[in-house]
Amino acid sequence: MAEEAVLGFLEKNELITDSGEFAVEQGISHDEIVNVIKSLNGFRFVDAQDIKKERWQLTAEGKTYAANGSPEFQLFMAIPQEGISRVELQKKLGDSVFKIGCQQAIKNKWVEMGKSQVSRKVAHVDDNVKAMLVRINDGEAVSQEEIDALKRRKLISPQIWKGYSVRKGPNYAPKRRKPATDLTRENLQRGDWKDLQFKEYNFSAKGLPAEGGYLHPLLKVRRQMQMIFLQMGFEEMPTNNYVESSFWNFDALFQPQQHPARDSHDTFFLREPSTTKMLPEDYVERVKQIHESGGHGSRGYQYDWKRDEANKNLLRTHTTAVSSRMLYALAQKPFEAKKYYSVDRVFRNEAVDRTHLAEFHQIEGLICDRGLNLGDLQGVLYDFFSRLGMSKLRFKPAYNPYTEPSMEIFGYHEGFKKWVEVGNSGMFRPEMLLPMGLPEDVRVIAWGLSLERPTMILYGIDNIRDLFGHKVDLSLIKSNPICRIGLQ
Ligand code: PHE
Repeated sequence: MAEEAVLGFLEKNELITDSGEFAVEQGISHDEIVNVIKSLNGFRFVDAQDIKKERWQLTAEGKTYAANGSPEFQLFMAIPQEGISRVELQKKLGDSVFKIGCQQAIKNKWVEMGKSQVSRKVAHVDDNVKAMLVRINDGEAVSQEEIDALKRRKLISPQIWKGYSVRKGPNYAPKRRKPATDLTRENLQRGDWKDLQFKEYNFSAKGLPAEGGYLHPLLKVRRQMQMIFLQMGFEEMPTNNYVESSFWNFDALFQPQQHPARDSHDTFFLREPSTTKMLPEDYVERVKQIHESGGHGSRGYQYDWKRDEANKNLLRTHTTAVSSRMLYALAQKPFEAKKYYSVDRVFRNEAVDRTHLAEFHQIEGLICDRGLNLGDLQGVLYDFFSRLGMSKLRFKPAYNPYTEPSMEIFGYHEGFKKWVEVGNSGMFRPEMLLPMGLPEDVRVIAWGLSLERPTMILYGIDNIRDLFGHKVDLSLIKSNPICRIGLQ
C-alpha cells in the first residue's frame, strides 16, 4: 500500500517534498513510507534525498510545567494579596518549585522578596513559559529567542527527525514488478522468460550462517567419555530412570538409614508416587540382615532397619544406584566378568553456587571380576584419565559407605599448575556384594566423577551456571570449539 502510494503520487506529481507530511496525508505510518522509499531508491525507481529537521521536544521537567504551569507562575499565584512568609510559601510549593520559582519571578520583577516576607510586585502575570511549552508540544512554530530561553532552562531538547524528499528515478515505473529470482519450468513452457526481468546474482553475498545442530559442551564431553569407555571395552548401563527407590540408591549400597545424605535436606524425595511398588523380597531380607546384624564377617550397623525408609522414592543422588541394580542382576545368573559404565543425570538438594547445581551428570565406571585388587583400580584409573589427557594422578584415602578402601582421585593440571580433584573411587564392600549373591571371590572396582567438572576445565568455564541450567547463554552453545583435546 505504501509502495503504491509513493509510485502513484509520483506518476502525477514531480516531487514528494517531505516524506513526513506525505505520510500524514496518506494516513500511512512514516516508518512504513521510509522503508518503501529506501527499497525503491535502491532499485533506482525513485531518487530520494535525505532531509533532516531539528525538532524540539519537552524534557520531563518541561512536561510537568506544560501541565501544571511554570514554577514562577505557580509561585506568583500562591502569594496572597497581603503577602506571605518565605517559609510558608516554600511549604506550599515544595522545595524545587519554590527555588526555581523565586529565581525566575525575581528576574521577571513579578515579586518582592523581603527578608522573611514575599509579596506581589505586579497585579497580573501571564504564564508565557507554559504557553510556549504547550505550543512546542503541539508542533507549532516558536521564535528562536524563545527556543533559546527554554533550552537554557533545559525544558526542551532537540530531536533530529529524518525523512526524504522523493522524485522519479531512472528506473521509475508506476508499478514495480518484482524481478524474478528463479527461472522455472513454467517460465520455459509458457515462454514468458523472454519478458521477465531477472534479479542479478549477488556473488559477494555472505549467505546466512547455518543455524541449528549445535552441540552443548556437555554433550561433546559426554561423547568423549563414552568413546573412552567403549575403547576400554566397557558396556553402557541403562540409566533411563531418574526416579529410584531409596532401596537401590542407598540400602543396597550399605548406606545406613540414618546417614545424613538420606535426609530431605540432601535428597529430593517424591511426593507422588511416594513409595516403590516392588523390590526383590529375598534380597531385601538379606540387605536388612546385613544392615542390622551383619554377616560374612561383618558386624553390620546394629540398628533397626525399616522397610518404609527403603520404600521411599527419590530422584537418584548418584548413578551408583544403577550400578547396584546391574550388579544384583548379574548375581542372579552364573557369574560373568563385566565392565560397565554410565553417564547420566543425578540430583541433590544442594544450595546452588559457582560449582554446585541441584542436578548434574555423573560418569561412572565399574569392573566386576574375580580377584581384583586396589592396584587394578589404580591401573584402570591411570588408563582412563590418561586417555583424557591427565596422566599424573594421586590418590587420597576417603570414605564411602559402599566402598572399602575408598580413594579420592586428584589429577595434576598442567595448565593450572596444581592438583585438582577429579573423582571418587573404591572397591565395593562385601556387605554390598555378598547379599546380592555374587561369588565370594568376586571384587568390584568402581569410580565416579561429574561430567560438568571436566567440561568446565576443558571449555574454560568457571561458573557452572554458565554451563548448565536456565541462565545459560545460547551463544555458548552456538560458538564453542568443535572439540577440546586433553584435560590440560
Ligand atoms: N557414587 C559416588 C559419588 O556420588 C562416586 C563413586 C562411584 C564412588 C563408585 C565410588 C565408587 O560421588
